[in-house]
Amino acid sequence: MAKEDNKIYDWQECSDFDIEKTRELYREYVNPGQVDLIGSFGFGKTLMKSAEGVYIYTDDGRNILDFTGGIGVLNHGHNHPRILAARRAFMEEKRAEVHKNFLSKYIAGLSHNIGMLLPDGLEMSYFCNSGAEAVEGAVKLAYKYHGGARAHILHADISFHGKLLGAAGLTGSPELHFSFPTIPNRSAFRYNDIESIKKLVSKLRKEEGASDIYAIIIEPFNASSLRSCSGAFLRELRKICTKEDIALIFDEVYTGWAKTGKLFYFMHDNVIPDILCYAKSFGGGKASISGYTSKKEIFNRAYGTLNDATLHSTTYNGFGEECITAIEAINIILDDDYVDHAARIFERINSGLLKLQEKHPDFIKEVRGAGALNGLILSDEINVALKAAISFIPGSFFKGESFLAKLVTSSVISELYNSHNILTFFGSNVEVPLIISPSLIVTDEQIDYFLDSLDKTLSEGKLKLIMKFAKEKFMG
Ligand SMILES: Cc1ncc(COP(=O)(O)O)c(C=O)c1O
Repeated sequence: MAKEDNKIYDWQECSDFDIEKTRELYREYVNPGQVDLIGSFGFGKTLMKSAEGVYIYTDDGRNILDFTGGIGVLNHGHNHPRILAARRAFMEEKRAEVHKNFLSKYIAGLSHNIGMLLPDGLEMSYFCNSGAEAVEGAVKLAYKYHGGARAHILHADISFHGKLLGAAGLTGSPELHFSFPTIPNRSAFRYNDIESIKKLVSKLRKEEGASDIYAIIIEPFNASSLRSCSGAFLRELRKICTKEDIALIFDEVYTGWAKTGKLFYFMHDNVIPDILCYAKSFGGGKASISGYTSKKEIFNRAYGTLNDATLHSTTYNGFGEECITAIEAINIILDDDYVDHAARIFERINSGLLKLQEKHPDFIKEVRGAGALNGLILSDEINVALKAAISFIPGSFFKGESFLAKLVTSSVISELYNSHNILTFFGSNVEVPLIISPSLIVTDEQIDYFLDSLDKTLSEGKLKLIMKFAKEKFMG
């Protein structure tokens, strides 16, 4: 396709782009690698036309059951009617978005609501736009709380905290395989291993003996590998942080807002952090809003004076429409009891997956999850003949340590999509779980359809699934 020089599209014209046009513009103006990566799958061959509830309607005329939950964003499903109505009213009333010269009633109301819902002095909130921004804001707050007098921060060896320069340095995931400059003085502890934390805490001390660690950041439930910390680990971690005056930061960017069967995952064990980060479904699937909430004494010591009040700010802090969307999203979670939905979803999906594990023991190695965030570790053992055949597969996507796990899991994802109109995805940390994470509005019938489709898919056998996937990927 020839480049259309001097053409400036309006948004309706963009809505009319087909897949070829969109691919071409991505190659020219966005990111060519992304086109190849997504092109491996059936969903890379079409575009989304519209979406509602748990369904995506594609340009090629299919109704896709979205079991990704928008990769964290869609606890409420696509285009929830109450979220749309709130945003429409806000626009029609020509409400003001944000202005540095005025305080915002929406930031005030949203912060108040969060303070009401969180325990133990977690009251002071700051709103930004991405998970990584929330993480970096929290880390900065912890550093300032100690007046810059402590040098070190600890993070887990398996973690995902985002891809900005600072957050990426705290991320322990092979997905981030290139070293960029980042936050100094980081040390990694073993996830869910209190002894490895104790070792670092006793080592990183100042000459006079006080701790030199300003913060420890952790996901109590690591979404990318579907692993969780034990209650005993979290309680001990809390004790250490309290004793040493280290700010304990929980990253619940993915797991927050009812996803795991509590409003936040930490509420399962009632171990309370000093700073909590959240994002994704906070925006009701419609707004890019994230935030962090800290205990009052932490906030006040860090930024509580006139001189320090604006040490942390961003242009889009608490944009009006984003804030009212988050307010509505929280009210829906409470009114419709999404916490209870997540618990019900867990029971049905987990018991269904365990039954499938019994039926397909060579395929399913492990069943993991909490609430509506579940998944499978699939066995990546394949026979010698298949191993030899796939060694000729070109393309860098599948090279690397977890090549086989990615291949097996992608083959299942591809079959679910192509033959059953179901969208799933895989997590890419040290393991490659098939993630099954529908929105919290999913019905029992939709879960049963998914489980039945997964059963049919696994019954095809690894060899057939991999061959089908390889044919689609490498032969179009
Ligand atoms: C636990 C966790 N923290 C932080 C982030 C980063 O969020 P964002 O991609 O919005 O920067 C993510 C994103 O998936 C996440 O899952």
